[in-house]
Amino acid sequence: MLKAQEIKKDVYWIGAVDYESRNFHGYSLSPRGTTYNNYLILDEKKTIFDTVKPEHAGFSLERLASVINPAEIDYLVINHAEADHAGALPDFIAACRPECVFCSPMGQKALEGHFRAWKNWPLKVVKSGDVISLGKRSVHFLETRMLHWPDSMFSYIPEDRLLFSNDAFGQNIASSERFADEISREVLLSAMSEYYHNIVLPYSQQVLKVLAQVGEMGLDIDMIAPDHGLIFRGKEDAAFVLKTYRRFAEQKPGKRAVIVYDTMWYSTQTMAYAVAEGLGAAGVPARIMSLKDNHHSAVMSEVARCGLVMVGSPTHNNGILPFVSGFLTYMKGLRPQNRLGGVFGSFGWSGECVKIISERLADMGFELPADPVKVKYVPDAESLEQCFALGLTLGRALEAKCG
Ligand SMILES: Cc1cc2nc3c(=O)[nH]c(=O)nc-3n(C[C@H](O)[C@H](O)[C@H](O)COP(=O)(O)O)c2cc1C
Ligand SMILES: [Fe+2]
Ligand SMILES: [Fe+2]
Repeated sequence: MLKAQEIKKDVYWIGAVDYESRNFHGYSLSPRGTTYNNYLILDEKKTIFDTVKPEHAGFSLERLASVINPAEIDYLVINHAEADHAGALPDFIAACRPECVFCSPMGQKALEGHFRAWKNWPLKVVKSGDVISLGKRSVHFLETRMLHWPDSMFSYIPEDRLLFSNDAFGQNIASSERFADEISREVLLSAMSEYYHNIVLPYSQQVLKVLAQVGEMGLDIDMIAPDHGLIFRGKEDAAFVLKTYRRFAEQKPGKRAVIVYDTMWYSTQTMAYAVAEGLGAAGVPARIMSLKDNHHSAVMSEVARCGLVMVGSPTHNNGILPFVSGFLTYMKGLRPQNRLGGVFGSFGWSGECVKIISERLADMGFELPADPVKVKYVPDAESLEQCFALGLTLGRALEAKCG
């Protein structure tokens, strides 16, 4: 019943749509589900680019079989060894018996680390600049190390002006549509940003390097086909993707703030509200996100557009609340740049909270232009004025930074 979908002449999408996925890679939200895209090219050499998550192998093999007997496949290209793309490799090797399985040098190491059967597979290592012929078409490989694993690689087909970009340019969107131009741009951009800021952000320098390489190589691209979500067709959309990734990677601070906090008895929450009033008075829109109600991944998607991140926690057992600590750990790994920070919290006796948060933000490279505000037990009118003033000062500092 499942069919392959032709995306260019003799080029097919044979991926799997995971409508139920809500927890991408076990740590990040995918509220719209996701897809594992893989592709088939019918040329003299019949070639598959990537596989799918292992549980979805049967769906992709069914789409493949809708156009060709899998036994006729000659080549597999594995652009990335992570389980959502190479997990079904044993099934594809069993069904297709390919003559060669192409991967990058780091890809070989990663495949060896994932699959005990690799010694029996016809692995063939290709490096940046290597070209293989499929007959009428050729495949040019570009290693994109640490975008986002050491083994990640792009495959470019000049004859089709087509780039298979693997995880880069992906979005977590499960849908019956296959092309980005078939859905609203707002939803698309939001999904691109959510994906970038929870997965790709730490590798922003690599993104800029790869974008520069793509520019220098003068690649003529009129379709970018990532391994998650929708495909970008036409020169305009291909350019849109590259431009959007440049913008994400440059991390210019946005004139907005997010106030992230947790609380036991609502004092820190009341402080958060007063901080937001101060930011509003400085003309900086602010969103308040309680860590009890917002997953760290949703908060990070908000941090994406904010030049100012304010963090609040009461003191808890000489430390901070675990959700706040967990969020700070998560954000640190994603290495956001060019951001201002602000800190507040309530305490009862020892009051370590603001010092701990300030140190952790400073360690991540946040600029902290104002002293934190800490309030003993329940805030009174005067301490809420201090919180308001903190918001106002930081809002103005953000204005000045954004210019
Ligand atoms: C389980 C628990 C542990 C606490 N540990 C500390 C502490 O180590 N040092 C401190 O200064 N206050 C401590 N406090 C006091 C809180 O920081 C204080 O009640 C604060 O006002 C709570 O702010 P909140 O309403 O935002 O939760 C503790 C409170 C609780 C309930
Ligand atoms: Fe990946
Ligand atoms: Fe992936």
